[in-house]
Amino acid sequence: MSTLVIIGTQWGDEGKGKIVDLLTKRAHVVVRFQGGNNAGHTLKVGGEQIIVHLIPSGILYPETLNIIGNGLVVDPAVLLEEKEGLRKKGRFQKDEQLLISDRAHVIMPYHKIVDQGREKLLGKAKIGTTGRGIGPAYEDKASRMGIRMIDLIRPKSLQQRVSRALVEKNCIIEHCFKLPPLNADRIVEEYAEYGRKLAVHITDTSAVLQARIEKGNHVLFEGAQGTLLDIDHGTYPFVTSSSVLAGNACCGAGISPNRVDKIWGVVKAYSTRVGEGGFPTELTDELGTRLREVGAEYGATTGRPRRCGWLDLVILGHSVRLNGLTGLAVTKLDVLTGISPIKIATAYMSNGKVLERVPSNVADLEKVAPRYSELPGWDEPLGECRSFEDLPSNAKHYVNTIENLTGVPVTLVSVGPAREQSIIRKAPF
Ligand code: GDP
Ligand code: IMO
Ligand code: MG
Repeated sequence: MSTLVIIGTQWGDEGKGKIVDLLTKRAHVVVRFQGGNNAGHTLKVGGEQIIVHLIPSGILYPETLNIIGNGLVVDPAVLLEEKEGLRKKGRFQKDEQLLISDRAHVIMPYHKIVDQGREKLLGKAKIGTTGRGIGPAYEDKASRMGIRMIDLIRPKSLQQRVSRALVEKNCIIEHCFKLPPLNADRIVEEYAEYGRKLAVHITDTSAVLQARIEKGNHVLFEGAQGTLLDIDHGTYPFVTSSSVLAGNACCGAGISPNRVDKIWGVVKAYSTRVGEGGFPTELTDELGTRLREVGAEYGATTGRPRRCGWLDLVILGHSVRLNGLTGLAVTKLDVLTGISPIKIATAYMSNGKVLERVPSNVADLEKVAPRYSELPGWDEPLGECRSFEDLPSNAKHYVNTIENLTGVPVTLVSVGPAREQSIIRKAPF
């Protein structure tokens, strides 16, 4: 048996999808364990770009089982659309490729209304959510008001639960957002239809996964978002609504912590963030624009321009510690070509004091001044490098510096969006 959890170490969009797709070649099962279609994971294979939001990034390998775990919030319309889109491209060949946990929660129309309405009411204080209903769906899960995938294939239970939820939701929709109330029967009809279409995929995925692990299968757990967007350990309140850390791979997939062998963090060679919230190393000058343009830093889910900045080792250290990383996958090293010197933040200054940890208060984080080390850059394009030795010496030095300062081995380096633009230094399986 061998299992590997892959998580984002920054604010998401580190290139997790690319890494999961690449490593699926040697995996039997790929599991998403949290989040929903706030995620946008980009895969590039044979010149074709594919973006998945809910379906795990292992889907391009027809013999691999992909699991949507109990920890997700699933928008069934988006899932069906994604499945159909992949099928049309010849990428979703058989229903057996995908299982969905019967315990996963469902994003309902009122979740999207509340998410978007709340952001509007917050005005300048908005979080900058993806507007996909993620937060309100997790709220309902915690308040025991949620609808789960199992309810979609049990029409009676669906009717009861939607009717109960709407008593409260319509109050909010009408009085807070001044919008017309929703009709229970219409929602039940629509969602029961989704249930019929998805029924073939819905099962107790924890049991299936456990059996596969016992059989000796190689399993990849695919995180969404990034550690600084974690509901507990991120830059609260500018975070997502789920626990995104490696520890949640267990709860969100339904396995024991003693089933996890390795944990890799994906780290972009610089930093990006979509949405609001503190970002100490943000570059608002032409260098930031250059990173955005060369790195094609536009959201894979909402198309919003990503804020860009230098690599931040305080942030990365926070991720190393919280996730217990045993390996690092450094992505987008190619984007730094032509920039010299390259800066990395090694600590923060706050009120004349050195801070080596991420402050818990977002106002404090906004006030810190990063303390930078400068590293020499390189001019050679990296897209054709296929081994660590192929990299220019300053690029190697940059990677080695990350390794030395974090104490975590860099097991993989990515030098372009395509599957083959990768240097695997230590295979996980
Ligand atoms: P994820 O959410 O972590 O899966 O990342 P996204 O897919 O949202 O964003 C990563 C973006 O960078 C995508 O457009 C990828 O195609 C692209 N990408 C991934 N790795 C590399 C790399 O090493 N170099 C370059 N230039 N692009 C990359
Ligand atoms: P992947 O998996 C980057 C951000 C949103 C917003 C905050 C809360 O592609 O890395 P939400 O809709 O989750 O309530 O929004 O979290 N966010 C992401 N940013 N990558 C993601 O996913 C994200 N998922 C959510 O922009 O700031
Ligand atoms: Mg993304």
